Amino acid sequence: MRVKGTNLYEVDHLLSTQGRAFRNGHRGGVIWMTGLSGAGKSTLAMRVEQRLFAKGYQAFVLDGDNVRKGLNADLGFSPEDRAENIRRVGEVAALFAEAGMIVVTAFISPYRSDRDRARAAAGEAFHEVHVAADLATCEERDPKGLYRRARAGEIGEFTGITAPYEAPETPELVVDTSKASIETCVDAIVAYVDAHLAVR
Ligand code: PPS
Repeated sequence: MRVKGTNLYEVDHLLSTQGRAFRNGHRGGVIWMTGLSGAGKSTLAMRVEQRLFAKGYQAFVLDGDNVRKGLNADLGFSPEDRAENIRRVGEVAALFAEAGMIVVTAFISPYRSDRDRARAAAGEAFHEVHVAADLATCEERDPKGLYRRARAGEIGEFTGITAPYEAPETPELVVDTSKASIETCVDAIVAYVDAHLAVR
């Protein structure tokens, strides 16, 4: 995005990334979950946050339904609004990571280009997790009744039905909630964090 402001002068922090990581016992990071509605992103994110916190990590979840009630209350589900939703969340997540936290995001984030931009914002701190339950499974679960309403034409631009989902091509991690239990998927994500973000 083009920066509109002029006469801007960036200020450097006096604290280093390494200093924050040393004190916290882990680096900051963005665990970016992407997947269809009903794939289990929110359930996994909240369990991962709980498990990481119990292990001493500073962790926090940014969830689509929650963030869309506040920061992104002005956005709908057109491709442009989804892009702006993910742009803002990507920037916020990058700030969390810079602050030394592990932020777990749970957004459908259906477009590769939007996720790539979020990756660019966080740099090496970005870790993409594909929550890969297939459409048939998600539609059968239909925990909020949204697929039924989308099929009935009551909700437009619904991901997987009348709007696209572009699966990641090279995510850092794939968990499939249609084949493995929630606990197995949580274990895999926590093990990934232990392996990649812990410093002692
Ligand atoms: S996106 O695509 O990343 O901008 O979407 P996100 O911010 O994750 O919000 C997804 C949640 O919004 C509800 N919802 C919809 N999802 C998809 N398509 C349409 N049209 C739609 N309308 C409302 C739904 O509860 C999604 O939550 P999850 O947890 O994914 O089911």
